[in-house]
Amino acid sequence: MSGNVEADSKFRRATPITSKINTPTMAAQKEYKVGILGATGTVGQRFIVLLQNHPYMKIHTLGASSRSAGKTYKEATRWTQAIQMPAFVKEMQIYECKSEHFKECDVVFSGLDHDVAGPIEIDMLKANIPVFSNAKNYRRDETCPLIVPTVNTSHFDLIPHQRSLHGLDKGFLVTNANCSTTGIVVPLKALQDAFGELAQINIVTMQAISGAGYPGVPSLDIIDNLVPFIGGEEDKIEWETNKILGGLSADNKSFDYLKNTKVAAQCNRVAVIDGHTECVQVTFAQRPAPSVEEVKRVLREYTCEAQSLNCPSAPKHAIHVFEENDRPQPRLDRDVDGGYAVAVGRVREDKVFDIKFVALSHNTVIGAAGSGILNAEVAIAKGLF
Ligand SMILES: NC(=O)c1ccc[n+]([C@@H]2O[C@H](COP(=O)([O-])OP(=O)(O)OC[C@H]3O[C@@H](n4cnc5c(N)ncnc54)[C@H](OP(=O)(O)O)[C@@H]3O)[C@@H](O)[C@H]2O)c1
Repeated sequence: MSGNVEADSKFRRATPITSKINTPTMAAQKEYKVGILGATGTVGQRFIVLLQNHPYMKIHTLGASSRSAGKTYKEATRWTQAIQMPAFVKEMQIYECKSEHFKECDVVFSGLDHDVAGPIEIDMLKANIPVFSNAKNYRRDETCPLIVPTVNTSHFDLIPHQRSLHGLDKGFLVTNANCSTTGIVVPLKALQDAFGELAQINIVTMQAISGAGYPGVPSLDIIDNLVPFIGGEEDKIEWETNKILGGLSADNKSFDYLKNTKVAAQCNRVAVIDGHTECVQVTFAQRPAPSVEEVKRVLREYTCEAQSLNCPSAPKHAIHVFEENDRPQPRLDRDVDGGYAVAVGRVREDKVFDIKFVALSHNTVIGAAGSGILNAEVAIAKGLF
């Protein structure tokens, strides 16, 4: 039996994610015009699905490559979502990703490939537009927050510094984490907050094919198979974790990376459509280490700022703890709390590290588009734009 009400009942079966809206926030009075860069891609399509019924963010401008520009969204897009393409986007025109086309937008979400994202996102920033990026280009930038919205929204405090460097009063640039990093930092944040420094973390991932975009991994490479390599992924998990779980300097102008937490990752691509599963082992600095029951309690009770700010897309529980031996599973559990939560199961003692568990997260919701949307909701609630 699961220790969590949601995990017990309404999220037992896989349900296609449409959109997920809680109680509107105070910031809901203004309508925010949204631009989506890379709107035709895997992450771009997820933005459209998640934003279609948003209470105060309305899709205004869609951007993609010059191959798609000038076409309608319906003509340009090979729609791969489990629900139908929303009617309102079908006839919207696709524009090139140039700031002149996005100047009416209050916020821009980027689902661009990293090989093109860099200059385009800077162009949007310089046009004084708040930008929330899924690409890796600026995650390691010393002036750019790398924010998982259920973990480190305190890093928004660096935005005034970033704005002052660029001479902006409204625009800023924030990135989400890599999708596999996102799934582990939520439970790790809960453990770090409760038990102090984490000494060693070992992660083995089993990552969905949608994480590679469309068309992604060729079917002949992945059916009846597992690919034990995802270029750059292990380094991203090992590096990003220390920025996200670290803090800010006292003047909010730089990042305090974790210095004593060692992170090792091994990444695998598996024949799952959506949902990254990750086996995690942790050694605490604290001696004696917390018990399995204490760890489960802390994971269940974890809350984040996005919830206290009453953001409409915030999960009711950022972490869902399962007790069943065979959960979480991607097909059954990736949609917990609309895909905005992390499902954790198999919490138990480890004979080499202190504890081990399995974490599952939806790679295109909390791992990508959902992170951007929830980050924007937090930024709005904090009065940043
Ligand atoms: N998939 C995931 O689970 C996931 C998770 C986290 C982060 N991310 C990151 O999110 C980003 C998008 O990933 P994805 O999986 O959605 O990729 P994707 O399916 O390949 O989509 C790429 C998008 O970028 C557009 N594009 C390509 N070249 C362009 C150019 N020169 N100018 C403007 N737009 C261009 C494409 O438009 P056209 O249709 O016109 O070619 C398409 O809309 C990547 O940076 C990825 O690393 C992905």
